[in-house]
Amino acid sequence: MKLGLIGTGRIGAFHAETLKTVPGVQGIVVADADTARARQLADKLGVTAAAGIEDLYADGVDGVVITAATSAHATLIHQALDHGVPIFCEKPVALDVPGTLSVVERAAHSPAPVQIGFQRRFDAGYNATRDALRAGELGWLHTLRACTSDQTPPPAAYIPTSGGLFRDCSIHDFDILRWLTGREVVSVFAQGANRGEPFFADGDDVDTCAALLRFDDDTLATVTATRYNGAGHDVRLEACGSKGARFVGLDDRAPMPTAEARLSWQQSTPYATFMERFHDAYVTELTAFTEVVAGRAANPCPVSDALEALYIAEACERSRRTGAPVAIADVRA
Ligand SMILES: NC(=O)c1ccc[n+]([C@@H]2O[C@H](COP(=O)([O-])OP(=O)(O)OC[C@H]3O[C@@H](n4cnc5c(N)ncnc54)[C@H](O)[C@@H]3O)[C@@H](O)[C@H]2O)c1
Repeated sequence: MKLGLIGTGRIGAFHAETLKTVPGVQGIVVADADTARARQLADKLGVTAAAGIEDLYADGVDGVVITAATSAHATLIHQALDHGVPIFCEKPVALDVPGTLSVVERAAHSPAPVQIGFQRRFDAGYNATRDALRAGELGWLHTLRACTSDQTPPPAAYIPTSGGLFRDCSIHDFDILRWLTGREVVSVFAQGANRGEPFFADGDDVDTCAALLRFDDDTLATVTATRYNGAGHDVRLEACGSKGARFVGLDDRAPMPTAEARLSWQQSTPYATFMERFHDAYVTELTAFTEVVAGRAANPCPVSDALEALYIAEACERSRRTGAPVAIADVRA
């Protein structure tokens, strides 16, 4: 199959490189608003560069991978739906609820699937924990503790385009907690802080956040995120139940050096980036997309799920600004 890829920045370049290794992908056509950047990546990987987005479709692609800046996602998804091709789009779908809803409503009446890039759904540790929970090995959950910590902040220019820490980073945790538990969040209480560089506050954002989530079965979860985790890129989850518990992301590269004298495994180089931490999950995720394009698999991450995760992010953003708990029902209204 031939795939288009729109947006050749940080994750676009990484996904294009991965797609080159996925069986069944015979051709890749890349495009970017910055045509020189698209050309540069195409030359590096030995793939085709399109002069513009419409040229990419004119090339006859079987599916499209959207890795452009978040603010462009909704428009690019609508354009891909016009062409009727299966779509993979990075999270989040849009910076706001109306933009996301417009895609959800359109996708519901379109034969072309829209898969959203929540790669943790393809990570072995999250899958093993979900399986253990479904098999009853954890009993009923009382507490979930999730964290997403970047080692260093992204470029300052990225912050105003990101949607803020809850929509940009914690949204991965909101999605995986729903996916893992099969339950819905009913209310949140969130706080944010800025102890790093001033461009976060200047961009009306925070560099660190913490949220307390209540699920509809009374499971409680904490979700934290920061842009300043010097120890490394740290994405982990603790799932604690009445019968047992699981720890996701506590492997030999977890950037959490022990303070205890006894440790039964050797700690090695900590993960520095999301590309290192989730390399295998990204490969599995994009391979799954090619199965969707080929019509051999159902969409593993529909856009309607991304809307639910966004509602939680919206509620957290509202809570950290007002200092009060927020019900998800109030955000939906
Ligand atoms: N799933 C993950 O783990 C993960 C990780 C990083 C980024 N992301 C998401 O990927 C997206 C891109 O992030 P990034 O870090 O690669 O950003 P980036 O700034 O490095 O790259 C964005 C690219 O999009 C291009 N672009 C902007 N508007 C465009 C348009 N209308 N048409 C075509 N190209 C356009 C820019 O020129 C740039 O090359 C964001 O939505 C981000 O949230 C997801």
